[in-house]
Amino acid sequence: MAATLSYAPLQGCNFGRVVSGFDPAHQTPETMAEIQDALYKHDVLVFPKTKLTPAQQAAMTRSFDPTAQSYGHGNNKTGNEKKSILHPDLKTIPHQPEVQLIGHGQVPGVYEGLDQPKLKHPHHATFHATKVSDEDEAKGTTRFYRWHIDAALYKLSPPKVTTLYAVKVPKGPAQTLRYDDGSGDEIKVAPGATAFVSGTTMFEELPPALKSLAVRTKVKYAPHPYVWMSGARARPTGLGLESEGLEMPLDQLPPWVEEDVKTLPMLWKNPVTGALALQVHPCGAMELHIDPQEGAELFPEGAAITDLAEVRSWLEKMQRPGIAPAKVYAVDWSEGDLVLFHNRGLLHSVTGAFGDNDLRMFHQCNLAASSDPDGPDAADKAKYA
Ligand SMILES: [Fe+2]
Repeated sequence: MAATLSYAPLQGCNFGRVVSGFDPAHQTPETMAEIQDALYKHDVLVFPKTKLTPAQQAAMTRSFDPTAQSYGHGNNKTGNEKKSILHPDLKTIPHQPEVQLIGHGQVPGVYEGLDQPKLKHPHHATFHATKVSDEDEAKGTTRFYRWHIDAALYKLSPPKVTTLYAVKVPKGPAQTLRYDDGSGDEIKVAPGATAFVSGTTMFEELPPALKSLAVRTKVKYAPHPYVWMSGARARPTGLGLESEGLEMPLDQLPPWVEEDVKTLPMLWKNPVTGALALQVHPCGAMELHIDPQEGAELFPEGAAITDLAEVRSWLEKMQRPGIAPAKVYAVDWSEGDLVLFHNRGLLHSVTGAFGDNDLRMFHQCNLAASSDPDGPDAADKAKYA
């Protein structure tokens, strides 16, 4: 494939590229094929100083999966999911309903057909079991809000790509992001930085016994996971939930059927490189189903782990090393930045907090995929199990 765009490494990151030479008004099949290939190879693509309409953003996003139609979380106006923790954060652009307006603050006037939309940047205090003190917050301390994959995790398949376009970005001094899990870990981030970690690195740096476990495990998600978890509270790292028995009982959820419950491999196979990424949404995971493997150090006879605290303890062991400070790439946004990220190869999290007078506006788009991700193949299992 002849390269038409140029690519530069992202500073301070072992994945991702900064791309120049792309004009979203001229999306040819050749250019989009090149961008798709680059995304699967590098996981994050940053296009600085881009002009992008919602229609162009939807077209770019759809080019990754032409038969995908609906927003990644389905119709977010679904009445019976009002309790979902995602509900308040999204405003759908009426003339391009796959694209959501997200951010913080009061937008003046009519914007893209939305009348004075009021946006709210998620704050960790609304989701974590503990919070940064007011005093530390005033000094610029923050946390990861929630590490996640963009996915409904019920009925719909996880989107392949998410596109994020920065329209309005308040600037300010760097913040200190604390993990607050006893590790003493912290990183510096720009205000409202979006944090990414590689699921491929998360898998590849596991010891052999955990690689064997990962390659043999499927993760069963709760039905309507964002309603199920709505009363539960997160760990201070934003990586999964505390086990306090606060999940909604399954018989009190909006109506659901077993065939729409998602059970997905713990490892998702990259369609271009063949690499395996450890892709688990730790908050929505409810059970682990492990295939047997004679001679394996862990669970040689296989297992079904249904105790939530135990499920979470295994996920913490496998995922926490992958969010260590050196492995995090935090985007310092500028207006006009377009970021495409490989939603099936990364976890990401919101960070930071904004004041009442700040205005931050982003366009976000992802589409529920036409099929579920592939898991490890026979050769992967022979290599790692
Ligand atoms: Fe997200």
